[in-house]
Amino acid sequence: MQTYGRQSLVLVRGDGCRVWDADGKEYLDFVAGLAVCNLGHAHPEVARAAAEQLTKLVHVSNLYYTAPMTELAEELVRLSFADRVFFANSGAEVNEGAIKLARRYSHEKYGPGRHFIISTYNSFHGRTLGALSATGQEKFHKGFEPLLEGFIFVPFNDLEAAARAVDERVCAVLVEPIQGEGGVCLPDADYLPGLRRLCDEKGLLLVFDEVQTGLGRTGKLFAHEHYGVTPDVMTLAKGIANGLPMGALLATEDAAGALVPGTHASTFGGGPVIAAAALAVLRQMTGPKFMDAVKARGKYIRRGLVRLQKQFPVIKEVRGLGLMWGLELTQEGAALVNACRERSLLINCTQGNIIRLLPPLVLQRRDLDQALEILHDGFKAVFP
Ligand SMILES: Cc1ncc(COP(=O)(O)O)c(C=O)c1O
Repeated sequence: MQTYGRQSLVLVRGDGCRVWDADGKEYLDFVAGLAVCNLGHAHPEVARAAAEQLTKLVHVSNLYYTAPMTELAEELVRLSFADRVFFANSGAEVNEGAIKLARRYSHEKYGPGRHFIISTYNSFHGRTLGALSATGQEKFHKGFEPLLEGFIFVPFNDLEAAARAVDERVCAVLVEPIQGEGGVCLPDADYLPGLRRLCDEKGLLLVFDEVQTGLGRTGKLFAHEHYGVTPDVMTLAKGIANGLPMGALLATEDAAGALVPGTHASTFGGGPVIAAAALAVLRQMTGPKFMDAVKARGKYIRRGLVRLQKQFPVIKEVRGLGLMWGLELTQEGAALVNACRERSLLINCTQGNIIRLLPPLVLQRRDLDQALEILHDGFKAVFP
């Protein structure tokens, strides 16, 4: 179906931060499958883990335990605030799980009627009906009404608005620590801690959607670590298995207790092949100096982007963290995406005018230099 505005490019091979098209042309990939291939394309350890598991056991359902799934759950718990994990297949699916968990937690604790979730304008939580209803962008809702009821939208980064929105119907606050699709919008230092305080005072669950920001993207395993707070519930997907589909819903023991046997399920969730791949991802990311290198590359690209901004007034703002960057333009960005692709660099544009850079976390300085050079040439050609 024609649901995507696809670019006319057929990709056949990838290696690290590069991909090749059907004609053999090489591209530097600053999209990384939309913040998915964080370890780069065809990572040998991830490939080996998945391939070995493919020849042992592929699927048994969640009626049974498997070693990769159990080990992955233990590792995620060890590396995060969480005590429990539920595995699914995508970001939208785990956000559905988070919505169900929040509603049921509140229902069990306080009785019916307290099922509203506060979400933010410009957020993005996925395309399934529940996750779409939680997404604070009308353009994605059009024609799909009636949506799931029970969401209240407030501006991102506005603590007072969040506090004003709390009433006796509200059970949770759902927020991306950094809005991704919405345009790489960073929170002020006190925003997430303020939401934590609000949730504690009012008995609400704090849910972080780290589908895009998680798994090293910002220079920490989870973006909320930058802000000194932990949520009650967190969703992960995208980078968790470096390109194989997986979502994970993480929660504290208290919150997870709301989902008892029979309340939630997913046939493929946490299958052994994907779990083995995800374990290999976590091993790489928790290796010595992995995150230090992401942070260093993040600082390096920031300097380059700020230099670009000085040269091209069309760049209104440069913002980001780690290796998640947005260049807000005063004009539409599609022509720049095309100009960069012609020059062998893949980039993304979101919200029409925000150039989003999400390179693999393993890229080298020379790759950054090459990308910055192509960006410069692209800007010069499109916005002279
Ligand atoms: C923050 C966030 N949540 C959820 C989703 C939806 O994930 P998926 O496309 O895997 O359903 C996305 C996808 O871009 C996202 O960025």
